[in-house]
Amino acid sequence: MRVAHLSLTNFRNYTRLEADLPAGPLILVGDNAQGKTSLLEAIYYLATASSPHATTDRQLIHWLALRRDARPYLKIVAEVHTALEIRRVDIRVEVDEAGAAREPRLKKTVLINGLKRRAGDLHGAVNVVLFLPQDMALVEGSPSDRRRYLDATLCQVDPVYALALGEYGKILSQRNALLKQLQERNGNGAAELEFWDAELCRHGGALIAARAQAIEEIERLAAPIHRELTEGAEHLRLAYQPAFDPLSDGAPQLALGLEVPVTRAGVRPEAIAENLRQRLAATRREEIERGATLTGPHRDDLRFMASGIDLGIYGSRGQGRTAVLSLKLAEMAWMTERAGEPPILLLDEVLAELDPRRRRDLLSRIGGAEQSVMTTTDLSLFEPEFVARGKVWQVSGGTIQMENGK
Ligand SMILES: Nc1ncnc2c1ncn2[C@@H]1O[C@H](COP(=O)(O)OP(=O)(O)O)[C@@H](O)[C@H]1O
Ligand SMILES: [Mg+2]
Repeated sequence: MRVAHLSLTNFRNYTRLEADLPAGPLILVGDNAQGKTSLLEAIYYLATASSPHATTDRQLIHWLALRRDARPYLKIVAEVHTALEIRRVDIRVEVDEAGAAREPRLKKTVLINGLKRRAGDLHGAVNVVLFLPQDMALVEGSPSDRRRYLDATLCQVDPVYALALGEYGKILSQRNALLKQLQERNGNGAAELEFWDAELCRHGGALIAARAQAIEEIERLAAPIHRELTEGAEHLRLAYQPAFDPLSDGAPQLALGLEVPVTRAGVRPEAIAENLRQRLAATRREEIERGATLTGPHRDDLRFMASGIDLGIYGSRGQGRTAVLSLKLAEMAWMTERAGEPPILLLDEVLAELDPRRRRDLLSRIGGAEQSVMTTTDLSLFEPEFVARGKVWQVSGGTIQMENGK
């Protein structure tokens, strides 16, 4: 799959952009703060209707438009070539007028081939794999970084997951608010929790089941890549470490050793939900005392194991980075399997995070991708042969200079 044409209006520092994007590698070069990341962000937005960087879509609308226009909006339009069709995706985010007292609201409209769709239906219309510099620290980073990574990956290919995640988040904050009230009331009225428990477990069960399945699938693809990258020295395992283990029967949880591979794929979401419900019932008093939900997928982790050690704790920085590279390359293959065709690759300043050998490993594996868009401030990080096979565009002040004749 690839984006053949991209049109931006008031997106970040692009007031207006019309660009025919080439197939194969495209390198965006430019100084800092020129609009390289923003261009990748726009393509990512086509896949997820959300930004990996902004906390609200309002940040994506050009400042000038926000200041100047009565109804500021941004627009991303793309012509996407898939194996089966040419697809047009239109996204518009508009600031809705509001009464003087209220915060203006944002209205998001998504059209696929001219037909109005919900933002959630966007999943699958465009598939991307995004490599961010901060991903390279995923192994040594915090569990919440790894959860965010898992969620972003799964949401793209699994709309049911995306819905469950949204619902889970809402229910979790409602349930936490109720737990805080119960804490103040010394637990009086705890029966109110029943409804929230049932909902939390229903969606939580779906999330845990999908994560377990996806992690095993990605691990199967990552292991041989990692073996190659480390020339046979390391055997990589992705160990899902759920805060609530679906294999438990509600009894107090034994900490399952990470060294032992455990398969949780195939455990039914309903069975997980039921076990989780029992667990919540058993820990209710403690949750009220603490005023927070203590178990559930919002506390999951994913550990990277190589040859029996936890890389997040005992691995070197280089080992961690290599593991992430294996993970991301496996994610590309996984998405290709799930979506039926290769995703678009987006690499933001990633080469600068890698040593020369890993740079070569990465470039040799993405060189054949149908479309990859990468950014750099320093073109010399790319090997001349790689540059010669692709196109190089200069980005400066929200405009793009497509190189002569290339
Ligand atoms: N909503 C916005 N409107 C206008 N400019 C913006 C907006 N959001 C960010 N910018 C600016 O856009 C510029 C380009 O940012 P970015 O794409 O991250 O640059 P690069 O990746 O080339 O370093 C920055 O100067 C940033 O401050
Ligand atoms: Mg940038």
